[in-house]
Amino acid sequence: MTAFELIQALAQDAAIGIVVTDATIEPPGPTIVYANAAFGLLVGRGLDDIVGRSPRFMQGKETRRTGLDAFRRALTSGERFHGFLTNYRTDGTKYRAEIDCRPLHAAEGRIENFVAFQREVIRRIGRPATSAAGRYEPTSVSNDSLTEALRALAVFGHA
Ligand SMILES: Cc1cc2nc3c(=O)[nH]c(=O)nc-3n(C[C@H](O)[C@H](O)[C@H](O)COP(=O)(O)O)c2cc1C
Repeated sequence: MTAFELIQALAQDAAIGIVVTDATIEPPGPTIVYANAAFGLLVGRGLDDIVGRSPRFMQGKETRRTGLDAFRRALTSGERFHGFLTNYRTDGTKYRAEIDCRPLHAAEGRIENFVAFQREVIRRIGRPATSAAGRYEPTSVSNDSLTEALRALAVFGHA
């Protein structure tokens, strides 16, 4: 069993959006090889209309280049990307996505895939926070066992 197969099995019924790509950073890559049902709901698209595309399909007018540059730098250096991007659904509506993306390594160390955990967030009402993470809160909170397990891996948490 590969790490990717394990993720697929666990991600199936997860409440958090989970998307896995190959390790190609240059366009037309990265190519999505797996997305769970929650990811399909988040982006408003059927899973067979997601697999095979680049995650860039979620970008639009207000997706900021600075965020994408930081994303690309993290992918290139094999580091985690934890950030907030403006994504677009298929019907054109935009939403703020919290994205925690990590490289998956093959046994010999090479990066084989990237996995991203994604959820919709909204701006927190009240005092402006100093960090991006403090400015947003998730639109729904899930308490399934995978969400608990992901907490142990600090997914959506501080590095
Ligand atoms: C697993 C994974 C998930 C991604 N999810 C998104 C996303 O939801 N929205 C987005 O704009 N870019 C996302 N990206 C980033 C883009 O695919 C791309 O890497 C980014 O636009 C930077 O590359 P570029 O400089 O060629 O545009 C994701 C990348 C990976 C590997």
